[in-house]
Parts: sequence; C-alpha cells; structure tokens
Amino acid sequence: MAARKPFVAGNWKMNGLRASLGEIAAVANGIGGANCDVAICPPATLIGEAVATASGSALTIGGQDCHAKGAGAHTGDIAAEMIADLGGKLVIVGHSERRTDHGETDAEVRAKAEAAWRAGLLAVVCIGETEAERRAGATLDVLARQISGSVPEGVTALNTVIAYEPVWAIGTGLTPSEDDIVEAHAHIRKALADKTGGEAESIRILYGGSVKPSNATAILALEDVDGALVGGASLKAADFLEIVTAAT
Ligand code: PGA
Repeated sequence: MAARKPFVAGNWKMNGLRASLGEIAAVANGIGGANCDVAICPPATLIGEAVATASGSALTIGGQDCHAKGAGAHTGDIAAEMIADLGGKLVIVGHSERRTDHGETDAEVRAKAEAAWRAGLLAVVCIGETEAERRAGATLDVLARQISGSVPEGVTALNTVIAYEPVWAIGTGLTPSEDDIVEAHAHIRKALADKTGGEAESIRILYGGSVKPSNATAILALEDVDGALVGGASLKAADFLEIVTAAT
C-alpha cells in the first residue's frame, strides 16, 4: 500500500475570537516533530493572525470555504487567492454545512476546488451521506456521485485531500460503526481510482464527524483512514493534540 502521511485538520467553523489565538499557539507548540500533517481552519477573520501565530511551527492554517472566482462583485465572499495571500495553505470546500446552509451543489464545490488549486492551496473536499440517504441504503451511491461531481479532473495527492463526513455524525456525538467507516473509505478510494487510476492510492481520505480523543485511536487505525477532520474537538488545543497523537 502507498505510504500516506496522516493528516489531522481542525475546522473551527463559526467559532473563535482573537482571544482564541492562544489555542493555535498551544497546538503549534505542541505538535513538535509529529509524523503527521496538522492544520487548523479558523474563521476567515483569524486566518492572518493564526498564520503569524503558527509561524516557525509545522502547523498550517487554512480557510473553511472560498468563492470559485478570484475576485469580483461577490459581497461577503472570500477568494482562494485571499486565503493564500494571508499565508493560508489549504481550504475546506463542500462542507455539508455549506451544502445545506448555502445550497452548494457538487458542480459548485468542484469549481471551488479548482479555485483552491489555482491559488496554490490544498483543497479539502468534503463528501458524506445524510441520515435519510443512509437509511435508504444509498450511502455508497451518494459517495461515488459526490466524488464524481465534486472532485475536479487532475486531482492528485498533492493538491487534494478528501474528507468523508457522514452528515448525521457531524456535531452529534454519533459515529458510524468501524465496518461502515472502512466500507465507505474503500468505496471512496475505488471511486477515486475510477477517476485517476493509480494516483488514488496516494490520495488521503480523512474521516470526520464527532472525532474526539476517546474515539480517535480506534478510528484512525482503520484501513484507508488517513487522518481526521475535527470540528468541536479542535477548539481546545489539549483535545486536538490528543487526536494528533492518536494519528501518529
Ligand atoms: P464535529 O465536526 O467534529 O464537531 O462533528 C466535524 C466537521 O464538521 O468537520
């Protein structure tokens, strides 16, 4: 199997004021030489100061969303180039909260991933089934459709990470069974292979949805799970660092 370096990313969502930068500093100081890529995506308001806070450490900082265009009349939106300009290295695209709250489609998510690449950012493309889709037995079909629709041609291990986040597991404390996670990740890798051939073996697939210190070791040990996208448990440096340790 291709060696895939673990990757743990924190998604702060709409949480964090300047007073929270101490958590970023604690993570930056705490990761040391961990054999794991570590990133935090704070709200856009904090990206610049977070980059400064993390400077000199292995912690990278990213955005939670970007517009597909590089500039223009799009009030309130942020271009991937603006995240890069602040020193950001990655951007999450297609998070289920964006898909739900803002009606983002697979085609829009794909355009955002292309924008990330254009700006030299790593795209973290999120996919995942809803509770109703899982109950209907449609999970694997949904994941294949989202990989096909949300991930641009030209995807490589260097420009993209996939995050599998079952919508019903986000922020709920619920997680799929270990067998279900393994099945989903294997299916996603197969869908990536249909798109890219052998490159799929090198592309990292993160699990996200209620990852916390108490379940991280078990989840991160699963076949084809190459790291985690962490929401709530990324807000406190001590919890996040425990998850990073579990990944290494
Ligand atoms: P959670 O969020 O860890 O709070 O469930 C994960 C995410 O939405 O990325």
